[in-house]
Amino acid sequence: MANRWKNTLKESDATPESVYLNRRQIMAGLAGLGAIGGAASVGLMSGSKPAVASTDPLEPNTLEEITSYNNFYEFGTGKDDPARYADQMTTSPWTVKVDGMVDRPGDYTFEDIMAKMTIEERIYRFRCVEAWSMVIPWNGFELADLLELAGVQSSAKYIAFETLLRPEEMPGVNFPVLDWPYVEGLRMDEAMHPLTMMATGIYGRDLPNQNGAPLRLVVPWKYGFKSIKSIVGITAMDQEPPTSWNKSQPREYGFYSNVNPEVNHPRWSQASERRIGGGLFAKRVPTLMFNGYEDEVAGLYAGMDLRAHF
Ligand code: MTE
Repeated sequence: MANRWKNTLKESDATPESVYLNRRQIMAGLAGLGAIGGAASVGLMSGSKPAVASTDPLEPNTLEEITSYNNFYEFGTGKDDPARYADQMTTSPWTVKVDGMVDRPGDYTFEDIMAKMTIEERIYRFRCVEAWSMVIPWNGFELADLLELAGVQSSAKYIAFETLLRPEEMPGVNFPVLDWPYVEGLRMDEAMHPLTMMATGIYGRDLPNQNGAPLRLVVPWKYGFKSIKSIVGITAMDQEPPTSWNKSQPREYGFYSNVNPEVNHPRWSQASERRIGGGLFAKRVPTLMFNGYEDEVAGLYAGMDLRAHF
């Protein structure tokens, strides 16, 4: 348990943007605020979580980069379309329908959820299947805590997620780029894994609409498209749920979609990635197995052929 978080840093260890911290997104654990470091710094998690020792010199992208280069096809397929159009989306009131194999199904309001969850800050690598990447300081809670709140049943094997579909606020859904609404899924052990989070903020601010407000999934060892945005539905089930990109291009996108530098996309290499930011100094860096979270998650896939289950 002590080393569970070795791949997470606290934002205030790495960046002066801690000036943006807000009380709703970060409830506790502000010790160390203002310290600027990176390598070998100790991050104290918010709330009741354990302290973290990290030797990873991850440097987060700027808020500007994280909120201006996005994929959210409900608002268009251009990288700047979400920043341009997503503020048309109404995010309050917001309810998440939780159903299927749970003891306490229902419409959970965003406020109910926030009141019951412990909001933490975690800095994760984020790797898109298109071979670009960022480092993002998220605020949010563990998906497992929400599933436990809903009373997920032990016989459930998968969790399915669904994004809001509101054509009058989402210009992109008028085009049949994907079969709307956007849907995703995780195997139960992936969903319950402590690295899997529901993000509700970035840099201590509420999540911007273009990043999937008010809450979106973040699964840091998988390609970014698994991290479904603006979630309105969560269903516990005993069958593998359909997923948007797999339905659209089954040869190119599998259910698992674990970051794997050895398994190329049919149309491009996955061996390296372009780190967004730095302008002319943008770096191409090698892609890490499971996006650098191998120690934490490789065990989930022991004995599986990762070429067959891509
Ligand atoms: N969720 C929805 N609903 N619609 C989308 O188009 N795009 C996915 C994922 N979640 C997408 C989505 C893809 S391809 C990526 S790489 C990430 O969101 C991008 O997240 P970001 O824009 O916050 O970096």
